Amino acid sequence: MNDERDETTTPGVDWDAEAAAFDDEPDHGLQDAQVRAAWAGRLRDWLPQRPGDVLDLGCGTGSLSLLAADLGHRVTGVDNSPAMLERARAKLAGRDALFLAGDAAAPPVGERRFDAVLVRHVLWTLPAPDHVLRHWRDLLRPGGRLVLVEGVWGTLSPVGIPADRLTRLLAPLTGDVRVEHLAGDALLWGRQVDDQRYAVVATI
Ligand SMILES: C[S@@+](CC[C@H](N)C(=O)[O-])C[C@H]1O[C@@H](n2cnc3c(N)ncnc32)[C@H](O)[C@@H]1O
Repeated sequence: MNDERDETTTPGVDWDAEAAAFDDEPDHGLQDAQVRAAWAGRLRDWLPQRPGDVLDLGCGTGSLSLLAADLGHRVTGVDNSPAMLERARAKLAGRDALFLAGDAAAPPVGERRFDAVLVRHVLWTLPAPDHVLRHWRDLLRPGGRLVLVEGVWGTLSPVGIPADRLTRLLAPLTGDVRVEHLAGDALLWGRQVDDQRYAVVATI
């Protein structure tokens, strides 16, 4: 029964159907020690140094949630795919982590506030990213940060959100905005890539 499913699925993608093989991609499952170490190093840099509360939106199978937990953070993950959530819960069994079914654009976290909102490869799929970013900003505690990993994929019909568009959207919402370009670091992807991949760390 898919009683956790809602109406906010990515157009054209059945994430429940993707879940079983999702971790086979090097940057998804982080099963290769070098790839995992590359992401762990970036997250150590992007997330607050002190252990805090991290909200991982569109958490998928929980690979980044696990790295955040390894860094000492308490993780709340949100996804609208029951099959993804099942894998995330299994991956972080025994950790200080909670996984909730819901819409990444309007996470079901009530009045809770976080030290970091972490989102990888999800924002570009959401309608009205300006409203979504404002909502995510409002989920942060003072001094908190948005950690957004995005990109533009493909050449003939590229999809994604370019870094300059995202920084323009963030400018009125946040203070310091730092962009790190990631395409040149093959270790992150398990192969050479030549499209646009980046992370934005925006502090309020
Ligand atoms: C490309 S995967 C990224 C997963 C994870 N962030 C990672 O980087 O490994 C996109 C994930 O976002 C979830 N997703 C897409 N749209 C969503 C929405 N509106 N609300 C919640 N989850 C969503 C999908 O179910 C899927 O797990």
